[in-house]
Order: sequence, then C-alpha cells, then structure tokens
Amino acid sequence: MQTQKLSRTSVVLHWVVAIMILMLLGSGIYMHEFEARDVYPIHKSFGITITLFVVVRILWRLKEGWPTPDSSHAPWERILSRISHYVLIAGTLFMPVSGMIGSVAGGRGLYWFGVELIARDPAGKNKMLAEAAHDAHEMLAKIIILFLILHIAGALKHHFIDKDNTLRRIFRG
Ligand code: HEM
Ligand code: HEM
Repeated sequence: MQTQKLSRTSVVLHWVVAIMILMLLGSGIYMHEFEARDVYPIHKSFGITITLFVVVRILWRLKEGWPTPDSSHAPWERILSRISHYVLIAGTLFMPVSGMIGSVAGGRGLYWFGVELIARDPAGKNKMLAEAAHDAHEMLAKIIILFLILHIAGALKHHFIDKDNTLRRIFRG
C-alpha cells in the first residue's frame, strides 16, 4: 500500500474551506428556516471571505494536480472520489458567486463586515436574475450536502474498514 503525502498547503486549505463551508451551510439553513434576518450580514461576509480561499485552492490544484489516491483504492473508488472532489470544489466556488449575484441583482448591494463593496441600489433591481441566483444557491446547497455525505462516508470507510491512510493524510499531510 503506497500513500503520497499531501502538502501542508493542501491540508490547511482543505480545512479552512471545509470549516467555513460547514458554518455557511448551517447558517444558511438556519436563515432560511427561521427567517433570521440578523444572521444575513454575517453569512454574506463569511461567504465573500471564503471566495478568496476557494480561488487560491483552485489555483493550487491547477499547479499541483490532484493528490494520487492510495494505491489500494479500487478503480470505482478513484472515479467516485474524483467526481466528488470536482463537484465539491466547483460547488464551493459557485455557491458564493450565486449568493453575491443574488444580493446585487436584488438591489441589496454587497457589504463585507460593514465595508461597502457595491452600494445598495433598489432601483437597479433585476428580479429575474435575483430569483435565478437564489434558486441556484438553494439547489447548489442540496448538491453540496449530498456529495459531502458521500465524501465523509468514503473517508470513514477508508479509515475504519479499509484501514488505509486516506483520512490520516488529510490531517497530517
Ligand atoms: C468534515 C468533514 C470532512 C472530512 C472528514 C474530509 C475528508 C477528506 C479526505 C480524507 C480527503 C483526502 C482524499 C484523498 O486523499 O484522496 C479529502 C479531500 C478533499 N476534500 Fe474533504 N473532508 C471533509 C470536508 C470537506 C468539505 C466541507 C469539502 C468542500 C465542500 C471538502 C472537499 C474536499 C476536496 C475538494 C478534496 C480533494 C483534495 C483537495 O483539494 O484538498 N471536504 N477530504
Ligand atoms: C460557500 C459559500 C456559501 C454557502 C455554503 C452558503 C449556503 C447557504 C445555504 C445552505 C442557504 C439556505 C438555502 C435555502 O434553502 O434557501 C443560504 C441562503 C442564503 N445565502 Fe448563502 N451561502 C454561501 C455564500 C453566500 C454569499 C456570498 C451570499 C451573499 C453575498 C449569500 C447569501 C445568502 C442569502 C441572502 C440567503 C437567504 C436566502 C433565503 O432567504 O432563502 N450566501 N446560503
């Protein structure tokens, strides 16, 4: 069984993005369920922040390529995990992008921890675009959650059933 080490950058970026995504999914669902208007600004601000880390992560993947899976993984596992990684990494980009488009097209502008990035403009509202972005935001959340369940189940299977280094290397590199 051969395992390629993951770079420290890959490990740090994985966990920074993962923790923020889990917080954003949780706060988004809470906002939606309870119409918690006071949570919106903090959700949006963290959502804008994550975009920076996601872009760095994608550039890092383009430079480094994907990590080679443990040599014991079956072909179907390699294909399924590669598809999941593509969906998750693309989802982490399109999620904040759809949120920002929805906010701006809805005339609410873009504010980052109180700093105005794009001013509020209720008159310039584009209702159709705002609704499409909102629907995309909701749909993408469902897709990400589905693939995350698969992703975490896969990580646990490798650790507890196959007893390989897949889970360990995302912590220790
Ligand atoms: C909390 C639970 C999580 C666990 C236990 C976990 C576990 C893992 C493991 C073990 C790997 C290494 C796979 C390999 O070596 O081939 C990995 C890679 C990866 N994970 Fe996660 N993960 C979690 C959360 C997330 C989240 C929230 C996302 C994004 C939405 C994500 C996206 C990725 C991606 C894209 C990779 C490919 C390698 C990279 O680009 O860093 N993971 N994860
Ligand atoms: C990776 C980043 C993000 C994640 C994972 C995320 C996740 C979510 C989730 C799960 C929901 C609830 C969906 C629903 O059922 O309606 C939601 C709602 C929302 N998100 Fe995000 N979000 C992110 C970024 C952003 C950004 C950057 C903005 C705007 C600048 C934003 C604005 C909103 C708004 C306004 C809602 C409320 C929609 C409603 O009232 O139903 N989000 N988000």
